[in-house]
Amino acid sequence: MKREMFQAPYPPYDPTDTSGFSYDTVVKRWPIILTNIIDHVHRLLHGMTLEAQQVRDLDLSRAEELSKKTKEGQEIISEISRLKYRMARDHELENIPQDGDILVAEYNAELDSLKQASCNTWFSAPWLYAECYLYRLIRAHFNQRTYWRGFDPFSTQKEGMFKKSGAAIYQIATTLHELESEKVKLQGDPDKLEVLFKEMIQMCLWGNATDLSLLTHLSPSDIEHLQTVGKEAQEARSEFILKDDQGAVWSYIKTLANQGKRLDFVLDNAGFELFTDFVFADFLVTYTPYFSQVVFHPKLFPWFVSDVTPADFTNTISSLLSSAFFPPNSTTSPDSVAHLQQMVTRWKNYIDKGIFTLATDISNGQKMTEFWNGPWPYWNMNELAPELGQWLNGSGLVIFKGDLNYRKLAGDVKWPVSTPFPTAIGPLAGSFPLLSLRTNKADVAVGIDEKVAEDLDNKGEKWRVSGKYALVSFLPGRIIQ
Ligand code: F6P
Ligand code: MG
Repeated sequence: MKREMFQAPYPPYDPTDTSGFSYDTVVKRWPIILTNIIDHVHRLLHGMTLEAQQVRDLDLSRAEELSKKTKEGQEIISEISRLKYRMARDHELENIPQDGDILVAEYNAELDSLKQASCNTWFSAPWLYAECYLYRLIRAHFNQRTYWRGFDPFSTQKEGMFKKSGAAIYQIATTLHELESEKVKLQGDPDKLEVLFKEMIQMCLWGNATDLSLLTHLSPSDIEHLQTVGKEAQEARSEFILKDDQGAVWSYIKTLANQGKRLDFVLDNAGFELFTDFVFADFLVTYTPYFSQVVFHPKLFPWFVSDVTPADFTNTISSLLSSAFFPPNSTTSPDSVAHLQQMVTRWKNYIDKGIFTLATDISNGQKMTEFWNGPWPYWNMNELAPELGQWLNGSGLVIFKGDLNYRKLAGDVKWPVSTPFPTAIGPLAGSFPLLSLRTNKADVAVGIDEKVAEDLDNKGEKWRVSGKYALVSFLPGRIIQ
């Protein structure tokens, strides 16, 4: 019997509310992201033109290839410029062109229903749909060109930001190294493990502060501040966690000892955040008896600027293993370099042994992973992506990282802040044990004490969107009798 699609009793966030972050995003942030893509392709075309001049007399076929690629690059630039033009003038969203890649029919079917409802323009479409649609359309513009198919317009930005994270990464590697000597004692001492667990979960939470779709200009000191780890930093930050289910998730995890449980990580951003996800996964598998396997769920194509793609996942391990990746830093000791090598070598072994697995490497993994690049809230995941729903239903814990995953869990609609988290995630509630680690960078937020929210609003705090505040939301799975 086909279950009805869940309908929330509240409207979605959209740019018609000019005081909301979605309005800011369509007016300011998306145009910057599109301009950055145009500038990036421009720079590449300039390099190609120079190379074509150099090889013209030496390698004709290479010169021809470069001129064809340059011509296609110019077409992409005019497509994205046209997109910026239409966006700024609140034109209609056009159908995603057939590029032989995933979800074309699904995006266009949703767009049809928005058209029926007369909210299919850039300033009227639901924010969640429009933003996912934007990245799917960018994908199509590259896919439709022979020499640019599958191109990641954000890879340089992602790598550039990752290279700036060396100091914090070496510090974390040494922290993990110090655990090595305590390993055996730790495994049998839940109280000690609890302290470490809290440090690890907060390091992983705040790792989400570094998403590039929001942070376009960051100075090295901003980055260092964002990435400060360690006990003091975390204590200082705990007041910024407005919903804190750390205790509840630890009590649940403690019931999983020695049962060979699997952890599923629904990833968010590449670089430093992915590094913190690896560290948290490593801690749970190596130093606790609660999990023995971890599956990491990426996006299938470049998404929200910095989200992890399969290429990012693989490159991250090789970058961390290369002693030349991070620029030399006077504060980094040779010991820390060795600690990082040792730790990442362990991760590499875990990947080789299938203890750490990328979901796209699992049979049927590609199909399962498509859902994360879709425009839908997660409410009806079991209907829209039964393979994925079935897979996650078998998990010991599913960790959803970041703001976009949170928006999709709660459907990006205008729930009152005091709405219980289980209510906001609708029919997905109870399907599997679920933990969301989110720094707030969009309006939707639930499970928060109304008084707390009011006080912050009265103080003029942009607690919903600044990325300075966070939510740790846990929900156990349904107990199968
Ligand atoms: O454009 C806003 C947004 O979609 C928000 O979800 C958030 O600000 C950002 O992009 C993505 O954040 P994250 O990487 O944490 O999902
Ligand atoms: Mg992201």
